[in-house]
Amino acid sequence: MGYIYKAAVIGGGTMGGGIAQVISFSGLPVIIKDINQDMVDKGIEAARQVYASRVSKGKMTQNEMDQKMMLISGTTTYEGFDDVDLVIEAVTERMDIKKAVFKELDEVCPASCILTSNTSALSISELGAATKRPDKVIGMHFFNPAPVMKLVEIIPGLETSEDTINDVMEFTSGLRKMPVRVEECAGFLVNRLLMPFFNEAVFAAQEGAASLREIDKAVTDRGMPMGPFFLADMLGVDVCYHVQHILHEEYGTRMAPAKLIDKLYAAKRWGAKTGAGFYVQDGTQDEAFAEKAIAEVQAETGIKGTSFSFERLILPMINEAAYALQEKVASPNDIDIAMMAGAGMADKSGPKGPLALADEMGLDVVVAKLEELQAELGERFRPAPLLKRKVRAGHLGVKTRKGFKEYSGELETV
Ligand code: CAA
Repeated sequence: MGYIYKAAVIGGGTMGGGIAQVISFSGLPVIIKDINQDMVDKGIEAARQVYASRVSKGKMTQNEMDQKMMLISGTTTYEGFDDVDLVIEAVTERMDIKKAVFKELDEVCPASCILTSNTSALSISELGAATKRPDKVIGMHFFNPAPVMKLVEIIPGLETSEDTINDVMEFTSGLRKMPVRVEECAGFLVNRLLMPFFNEAVFAAQEGAASLREIDKAVTDRGMPMGPFFLADMLGVDVCYHVQHILHEEYGTRMAPAKLIDKLYAAKRWGAKTGAGFYVQDGTQDEAFAEKAIAEVQAETGIKGTSFSFERLILPMINEAAYALQEKVASPNDIDIAMMAGAGMADKSGPKGPLALADEMGLDVVVAKLEELQAELGERFRPAPLLKRKVRAGHLGVKTRKGFKEYSGELETV
C-alpha cells in the first residue's frame, strides 16, 4: 500500500485545471504540466476561478484560498516529477499523443509512481502497454465540471495490480469524490450510457420530431439537471463526436452517430469553447446554423417528421445499462450511483439511476416500448437479451419486487 503525498496533472485544459483544484482542495501539492506556458496558466487560472467563486459565496476566506493556491504549481518541463506519487494525464483524446506522454512519464517518474489517465473512452490496457509498469497504470475518469461532479470511474487495465486499484480508490475517496470501479470497455460506464441518450436526442432533432429547445425542456421537465444539447455544448461537441465514434466502432450499429453531430463537428460548432455549438453562445455566430444543418440532413436521409417522447431518449440509456450489466461492467447499484454522481441523473423525486427508473416503469413495459420503437425507428432499439430474460422470468421491477434490483415488502395479492 503506497501513500500519495504529491500529485501531478498533465494538460492544463478544462479538465486538467479542475482536477488540480480538486487535488489542492484536499490539501495535497499538485503540479500542472503542459507543453506550452499559456495552457499551464489557463489550468492554474481555472483552479483560481473555482476558489474565487467559493470565496465570493463566503464558503472560504481569501487567506484559505491563498493557502490552497500555493499548493498548485505549473511547469512546461518535468521539473518536480522526481518525487511525484501519482500522475493524472488529461491531454487531448488521441491515443498516439497519450502514449507518447505515458512513455515520457515512465522515464521521469519514480518507479513507485502510479500513472493514471482521465481518458473518456480510450483503452487503459493499451496505455499500460506503452510503459514498463502496466501494473501501475489505471484509468481515473473525472466528470465535467470536475470540481462539482462527485464520481470518478476507476478503470483497471488488463495488467493493473490490486494494490494500484486499492491505492487509487483510497486516493479518490481522500479527494472527497466517489470512486466506482468499472471493468474496461469502450466509453466505460457513464459515457457508454449517456451517449445513446444524447445521440437519440440528436436523431429526434434532425428528424424534426421536436426542436432543440423543446427537447432540452422535455428532459429538464423530467428532473434531469441539463438538457442534452445544453450539456453537449458545455462538454464540447467535439468530445461527444469522438466518444460517439469510438462507441460506434466498438459496439456497432446501435451506436451509429446521428449525422447532425458530424455536421456540427465539421463546422467547428464545438459548443462553449468555440462560441457556438447546438446553440450560439457568444452572439457572433450564425443563429440559423443548426436549422440549416437539420434541413440538409433531412434532404440527405429522407427521414423527417418522426415522433418525440422522453421515452425515446431514456430507453436507449436503459437498454445500454442492461448490456453493460450483462457484460458485468459494474453492479446494478454501481451503475445507478455512477449515473447519479457522474451525470446528475434524476427524476422529479430526486436522484435516480436508469435501472431504478426501469424497475419503476416495469421491465415488461420497457421491452414492449423498445420493440415499438424498433419497429418505428430502427434496430438501435432492439432490447438487450438480459431485459428479455428478466421479463421471461417474471422479474418485472418494483411491481414484482424483483427487477434489476430487489425490493422489500410483500407482493400484493389481487
Ligand atoms: N466549475 C466549477 N464549479 C461549478 C461549475 C463549473 N463549471 N458549474 C457549477 N459549479 C458549482 C457552482 O458554483 C455551485 O457551487 P455551490 O454549490 O458551492 O454554490 C454548484 O456547482 C451548483 O451549481 P449551480 O447551482 O449553478 O447549478 P446546478 O444546480 O444547475 O448544477 C451541475 C450544475 C452540477 C453542473 C448540474 O447541472 C449537473 O449535474 N449537470 C450534468 C453534468 C453532467 O452530466 N456531467 C457529466 C458529463 S459526461 C463527462 O463529463 C464525461 C466525459 O468524458 C465527456
